[in-house]
Amino acid sequence: MYNKITKREVILYNMHWTQIYILPLLLGVAFLSSCRKNPPVDDAGDLSKIAYQPVSYEVEIPEIYKSLGLEIPIDNPITVEGLDLGHKLFFDPILSVDSTVSCASCHLPRGALTDNLPQSFGVENKLGRRSAMSLLNVGFFKNGLFWDGRAENLEAQALIPIQDPVEMAHSLVGVETALRTHKEYPAAFRRAFGIDHIDQINASLVAKALAQYQRTLISGGQAKFDRFLRNEYLFTDEEQNGFDMFFDANPDIPDAECAHCHPSPLFTSNQYINNGLDTVSSLEDFEDQGRGAVSNKRIDNGRFRVPTLRNIEFSAPYMHDGRFATLDEVLDHYNHGGFPADNIDANMRAIQLSEEEKQDLISFLKTLTDTSYYQNPLFFSPF
Ligand code: HEC
Ligand code: HEC
Repeated sequence: MYNKITKREVILYNMHWTQIYILPLLLGVAFLSSCRKNPPVDDAGDLSKIAYQPVSYEVEIPEIYKSLGLEIPIDNPITVEGLDLGHKLFFDPILSVDSTVSCASCHLPRGALTDNLPQSFGVENKLGRRSAMSLLNVGFFKNGLFWDGRAENLEAQALIPIQDPVEMAHSLVGVETALRTHKEYPAAFRRAFGIDHIDQINASLVAKALAQYQRTLISGGQAKFDRFLRNEYLFTDEEQNGFDMFFDANPDIPDAECAHCHPSPLFTSNQYINNGLDTVSSLEDFEDQGRGAVSNKRIDNGRFRVPTLRNIEFSAPYMHDGRFATLDEVLDHYNHGGFPADNIDANMRAIQLSEEEKQDLISFLKTLTDTSYYQNPLFFSPF
């Protein structure tokens, strides 16, 4: 009876015989190949049957940074698989104790990889001690990482926020367990690092993957400043005045002294400097000892690593504790020359720019804005 024909039979009736046989075959092949891509890890945790064929990844470096060279440790070359794993880990809250905070919670693409807060909030909304740093071009920084340089390189740096009690508050053992029991990460670690067993997933490989990923976070070489250098962009009068002040490029225009500490192309010398933010009666007096707490040298107290000014327009508030909300406030500080201290840098002096000159200098700082990396999917969540 026609009425009794089920929907399934109607579909089958309407299909040509080739579809009836070929469709399941195609679905089968698709299923098998998806298994090959992501084969289930057996109960014993054996990963050795998953293919390990890492493909070397060539980081695209804009001309302006070519002479700097990326610092890549011999035992952690960048591969497509390692980068992919690092990209996921960076955006995955799995690295924090209660799975609420990821690296990207404090290093957001649109804030030049900062969170636009004076201090960052970690797990349970705990408030950190310093302002999140921009990670743009971080792979080129070779004089220590963090405001005080306490991490030697990206591999050493990565495990610090994971264990910081006010950031991700996790333990390395906890992270390892979470990743070993995850349904996708074991295969990803195998593909990136060739490990044979889930027990070999460890914090050091997490750090390596995160480091590979962060070495690719390079600004695109498309800032007005970069294009100006390539004769592709002509500065406005204001921008040109600002450029001249910044680089002391024109004897008729005041020298703002900026380039001593913020030289092109990274706009940081990466030196540890006291730029006179605090009034202190002695070098013991700084609220945050900065570099001094790492080097144990009194003369380093109150010194911080000079930050990059690339995309500075987007990374407010400013300084290690986010004390200045705007670039106007930053320039008021430099205009006044900072507070004296035994170790204030010799290049700090009251530069006394007029209001108009100040605005010109800010116009120039905005020529360091480069949003071309917004087109680069590596800067955004892979999930
Ligand atoms: C709770 C917010 C927070 C989280 C989460 C966080 N960071 Fe940070 N990050 C910061 C702050 C704040 C600093 C500066 C800290 C300091 O100097 O003491 C920083 C500094 C850095 C630096 C140094 C950059 C430089 O130029 O020296 C790197 C690299 C970095 N973070 C990467 C990461 C990675 C990778 C993760 C995830 C494993 C992560 N961060 C998680 C807030 C955070
Ligand atoms: C003597 C070295 C020195 C000179 C000169 C100098 N800076 Fe800085 N700059 C620093 C240091 C060091 C910091 C970070 C200080 C801190 O947070 O404790 C900094 C921070 C900044 C910041 C904040 C960046 C951020 O991400 O928070 C801006 C903006 C800035 N400088 C712009 C300028 C401009 C513009 C000039 C010229 C008028 C200038 N600087 C001159 C050393 C210098």
